Amino acid sequence: MIIIIMIIIMNEELKFYDREEELEILRDFWREDKAGICVVYGRRGIGKTRLLVEFSKTVDRHIYISIPEGEWSIIAESIANQLSLPSYFRFPTFEDFLNYILKLAEQKILIILDEFPRIVDAVPAASSILQGVWDLKLSRTKVKLVLCGSSVGMMFKETLSYSAPLYGRVSRIIHLEPLSYMKFRQILAGVPEKRKIELFAIFGGTPSHFIFIDPKASLEENVRKILDPTSYLFHEPYLILSQETRTPERYLSILLSIAKGKTTLVEIANYIGIKATSLPQYLRVLEEMDLIRREVPATDEPWRSKLGRYKISDPFYRFWTTYVFPHRHIIETGSTVELVRRIMDDLPQFVSPVFEDAMRDIIVRSDIFGTFLRFGAWWDRKGNEIDFVGIKRNEVWIGEFKWGDVSKNDITKLLQKANLLNIKGEQKLFMISGKTPSPSVQSLADELNVKILTLEEISRYLDEKQKGETTPA
Ligand SMILES: Nc1ncnc2c1ncn2[C@@H]1O[C@H](COP(=O)(O)OP(=O)(O)O)[C@@H](O)[C@H]1O
Ligand SMILES: [Mg+2]
Repeated sequence: MIIIIMIIIMNEELKFYDREEELEILRDFWREDKAGICVVYGRRGIGKTRLLVEFSKTVDRHIYISIPEGEWSIIAESIANQLSLPSYFRFPTFEDFLNYILKLAEQKILIILDEFPRIVDAVPAASSILQGVWDLKLSRTKVKLVLCGSSVGMMFKETLSYSAPLYGRVSRIIHLEPLSYMKFRQILAGVPEKRKIELFAIFGGTPSHFIFIDPKASLEENVRKILDPTSYLFHEPYLILSQETRTPERYLSILLSIAKGKTTLVEIANYIGIKATSLPQYLRVLEEMDLIRREVPATDEPWRSKLGRYKISDPFYRFWTTYVFPHRHIIETGSTVELVRRIMDDLPQFVSPVFEDAMRDIIVRSDIFGTFLRFGAWWDRKGNEIDFVGIKRNEVWIGEFKWGDVSKNDITKLLQKANLLNIKGEQKLFMISGKTPSPSVQSLADELNVKILTLEEISRYLDEKQKGETTPA
């Protein structure tokens, strides 16, 4: 039994899902023959370490160092161990370590410092020290230095923002994000598209969550795994906010207020009782952590729109702030029967916005309708909404997505909505339906020139398109 489990775990460990774009950036970075710094950042669990380890396997001359938490002496000792240096070897200071790198860098070498912010925790001047050594010496070598960190705020403060010590020295930046639905769907090969979307709506695209997904079990069983006070996912959001921010409660209350439907700056600020002017700094960190996103109607400029609204962009965090955190006391007592029933009843409504996001992602990434100049959802001040508006040079594509069936009423409504848009170009109307439409609905659609695509058709199109793409390595 134990052996079987081990094999399953090892198998899981071996698969490496699509990070092709990021690998390409790293390959480019490595190819250049001059010194360079690449910054890799993103929320814990998003796959930074895995990406760098996979990449470093393809580079013959490299060192990968995982920085532990602790004082410099502890870090220095760990570095020496990881480099298998003889025991008399010491790095009394961070400068000593940089001087050691300097020697190695006489020849081209990739050096990865994973969780670099931990060095800054131990040696607050570390980035300035690195900047000094970089400007004087390292920049003239052939070192390819990768600085990686989960603490998004810290990575900005030390390496990317205008006042950061390393500002202007960084030549590549990789902001590692969760897998989009297009990529997520590939890890569940063989599972019906509908179920893939449901599982995505619950677990999201964070690679560290994938081991918790059981596509063979029922949806309810998958949900129950999160509602278990001993499970990692029950605790994860709070743990991550506590590790990566100084005021986890503040971030948590922002997420909870967005989950409650507060979507503008003023609404969020009022709900949690702080000044609207002090909110943007927190929102920015949550955006960089890929937890929230500000959206504007497809026809608006993001920086100018007055109709922007915030939403929780990570499906798992949406699930957690909606169902888990508010009911944590019930969950902790173990009496979740009622809660599970409510979640299962709610699920179609809960999944629907994730389905809509997934369809927008598919449309713009898969080329199924060609390429758009701009696209997105659309809404106005009066409460009218359209799931998809995509603008091409001479065409405007207007679509509605239905997780359930399309009714005749949905079709006539789509025509009315299309009249609200004041955009030049031939209108192309379409719907995506979770189910096959009835013959009478289909004939009305044909008559009114509305194309209906079913989720199944889209699924087949994507399977065909993604066949042979590098899924698991
Ligand atoms: N692209 C991927 N394919 C498969 N598993 C992944 C991928 N990225 C990350 N993982 C797995 O997810 C977990 C968290 O990834 P990790 O690289 O440690 O995240 P981070 O360093 O960003 O905190 C690990 O178990 C890792 O093996
Ligand atoms: Mg890591």
